[in-house]
Amino acid sequence: MKVLVFAGSTRNASHNRKLAREVAGLARARGAEVTHLELGDYDIPMYDADLEARGTPADVMKLKQLFHEHPAWIICTPEYNASYPALLKNTLDWLSSPVKGDPVWSDDMRFSRGKVVGVLSASPGALGGLRSQSHLVPLLFNLHCWVAPLTYALGRAGDAFDAAGLLKSEADRARADAVVEQVLWAADRLHAGDEK
Ligand SMILES: Cc1cc2nc3c(=O)[nH]c(=O)nc-3n(C[C@H](O)[C@H](O)[C@H](O)COP(=O)(O)O)c2cc1C
Repeated sequence: MKVLVFAGSTRNASHNRKLAREVAGLARARGAEVTHLELGDYDIPMYDADLEARGTPADVMKLKQLFHEHPAWIICTPEYNASYPALLKNTLDWLSSPVKGDPVWSDDMRFSRGKVVGVLSASPGALGGLRSQSHLVPLLFNLHCWVAPLTYALGRAGDAFDAAGLLKSEADRARADAVVEQVLWAADRLHAGDEK
């Protein structure tokens, strides 16, 4: 199973990037073929329909294809003002905007339809960014994704990782792994018949 793992942060010391690294390792340990995406490696401007009319940016086209190629995604989202950050919104808005006149990418949901998605969050606060999930999940439904019912919010994230950036607590690792397990379980069933 091909799984795309990414965080909604580009910050150097991001808790969510650390959590995404941990999740990528857990998915690999379960036999998944993991692509660990760093959104900071892509040059995605703020969405602007006038800019888009002059041509969808090359990195947006690359990400559309990358997301399309992965039947399962796992997202680690920060919480900004009780929601998910603009980085995630802007990226998903670009990816869901149809490329007019393109025989393949005029289908706005080609990149997202039917994907199995796991959602985790991390925050220095006690709630672990739980409220970001409650906004992100409806957006994913709108993109026709199947969101795994089990999610995980890592609270007090500033104390949760060791110097190597790994989770200190086996209990936290087990909760993150339970999300990974559920995503792989569902993706295996929903995508078993996909063309290779
Ligand atoms: C504009 C802004 C709003 C924030 N709002 C919240 C919030 O509502 N809840 C919360 O738990 N943390 C909030 N935070 C703190 C973030 O959780 C914290 O900066 C976190 O480290 C960001 O994720 P990252 O470490 O993956 O970059 C906010 C931070 C910023 C910059």
